[in-house]
Amino acid sequence: MSLDPFLGAGRTTASSAASSSSTPSLVGHRGCAGQYPENTVAAVTAAATHVDAVEVDVRLCGTGEPVVFHDETLDRVTDGSGRVDEVPLGRLGELDVHGTDASIPSLAELLSAVSSLPTDLPVNVELKTSAVASAAVDVRAEYEVDVIYSSFHDDALRELRRADPDAPLAVLCGRDPDAGLDAAAAFDAPAIHPSMALVLETAVVRRAHDRGLAVNAWTASTAADAGRLADAGVDGVIADRWDVLDQGSEPDA
Ligand code: G3P
Ligand code: MG
Repeated sequence: MSLDPFLGAGRTTASSAASSSSTPSLVGHRGCAGQYPENTVAAVTAAATHVDAVEVDVRLCGTGEPVVFHDETLDRVTDGSGRVDEVPLGRLGELDVHGTDASIPSLAELLSAVSSLPTDLPVNVELKTSAVASAAVDVRAEYEVDVIYSSFHDDALRELRRADPDAPLAVLCGRDPDAGLDAAAAFDAPAIHPSMALVLETAVVRRAHDRGLAVNAWTASTAADAGRLADAGVDGVIADRWDVLDQGSEPDA
């Protein structure tokens, strides 16, 4: 297994990466939330043959297990309501995600499913809270799956580093490229994950590449979004759909 989709493997030098015209890696955001019920085993397994990797969100549930879920509360995504961190794992497994048969998986269930796929599928586990970091590391140790962690929160990255000093991680940054680049240095991160706006409106890609960091940007919803990110030189596009990048074509000679 390899984290190449996240770490920009194939880049020869930091400066050549910034001007590279090669197609970026494709990472299915929440398991391609634009096509499948977000953050579910069904989504990740359906997306698996189309993407280089997937991204999922994790937080603790009411009985203390890490579960794969984006929001603090159940209301937007499921037929339940209330705070995820107050609901037991068993109850979460009974809820429907976006009106489908798919339910909220534990991180263990999701990594177990990924480890059973016929081909390797690296997983970006986004830590939504600091409290979930060490529990996520404990779960990940049980499965043969390549994982890179990420978070917007310094306290989550700190907890992650405490739990696993060697774990690959990426710093998520939405508004402030300086804070993201500084955090990458502080946490010894090999990658940053900036928003699409940061990529298009600042020099964050060049600055990150100059520091030897890979750049995976979120979130592309359309082919136009993905094309703009590719033109900006990112190493990976975190996308809601797997059909936004033409991964098979080569540039014209
Ligand atoms: O990891 C990139 C992206 O998932 C961050 O935003 O809110 O969709 O988790 P969000
Ligand atoms: Mg996320």
